Amino acid sequence: MTFSLDQGRQLQDRFGRSKHKLRISITDRCNMRCHYCMPEDPAWLPRSQILSFEELLRLAGLFVRELGIRSIRITGGEPLLRKGAVDFIAALQALRAEGLERVSLTSNATLLERHAAGLKAAGLDDINISLDAMNPTLFERMTKSPLEPVLRGILAAREAGLAIKLNAVVIRDENEQEILPLVAWAREHGLPLRFIEFMPLDGKGGWRPERVVPEAEIIARLQQRYAVAALPRTREPARYYLLDGDYRIGVISTVSNPFCASCDRVRLTATGKIFPCLFSPRGVDLKHALRAGASDAELIARIRAAVWHKGKGFVDVAGYVQRDATMHTLGG
Ligand code: 5AD
Ligand code: SF4
Repeated sequence: MTFSLDQGRQLQDRFGRSKHKLRISITDRCNMRCHYCMPEDPAWLPRSQILSFEELLRLAGLFVRELGIRSIRITGGEPLLRKGAVDFIAALQALRAEGLERVSLTSNATLLERHAAGLKAAGLDDINISLDAMNPTLFERMTKSPLEPVLRGILAAREAGLAIKLNAVVIRDENEQEILPLVAWAREHGLPLRFIEFMPLDGKGGWRPERVVPEAEIIARLQQRYAVAALPRTREPARYYLLDGDYRIGVISTVSNPFCASCDRVRLTATGKIFPCLFSPRGVDLKHALRAGASDAELIARIRAAVWHKGKGFVDVAGYVQRDATMHTLGG
């Protein structure tokens, strides 16, 4: 199949999947070292490799105005480590007049105590926060960071009136026993929680199929404590369950039940590469074109072509892919 410009404005791939959601990683830096995401000794990218906020805003504008993107999620690394992140989120608000409906953030929460009020004022809609264990020792082992500032950050964001979703990656022989304590804490604080199956995206190559705790097993654990009722599927990647009739949890089963067939996302790395899929072997560079003075039309054509050639996804690879980017530069 060849790429055709006659397919209308909406960003689409060759399998007929439309893209409405853009993730922008604004930094590869992180103050945590979750082993499922980061290499142990990451070599941070030099500043000159990272797109400036002006460059990012230009691309975000094209995605919204010309390519039908309706929601933007800012990721990292830890996005709040980049100076000016809150102002960038404020600047994105101008795109609402052009069709942008949602601006979200993915964060590890360590800096939220400081930034929650500013983010709310900047027009942020919601935050996804990683929380993999309630046991402080285990949390520290998994992330090389203390738990307490994360819990304080989560509560500060809630206090500021930001919508929050908690995400927990579940790994066999590591944090399965945290499933029930995580539910108890999230439920007590009225916060939505989603469990995520461990994907082969870690920096160290520690992923094994046996280390994935499949959705069915997560549910079985929940059934030890709660009456669990499956809710009808929505367009979201997570499947939802009602616990004891009053608290909803989600499971994102990328490995046991990939949702690639309906994937509506595209990713832009901090270095200006389009990764149509987390499992794309390589990105399509926009930075060089951008810095060589490419016109809007040229950039749009590059983006369309990159997305058009998006692969089927995890369903096609089912294991590690050698990529020219690691998870912490793709932003989850
Ligand atoms: N498997 C599953 N999810 C991952 N994330 C990062 N690495 C992995 C992985 N190997 C997700 C986590 C984290 C977000 C930033 O990216 O949900 O919260
Ligand atoms: Fe940092 Fe998030 Fe990756 Fe953990 S998962 S190392 S908090 S970017």
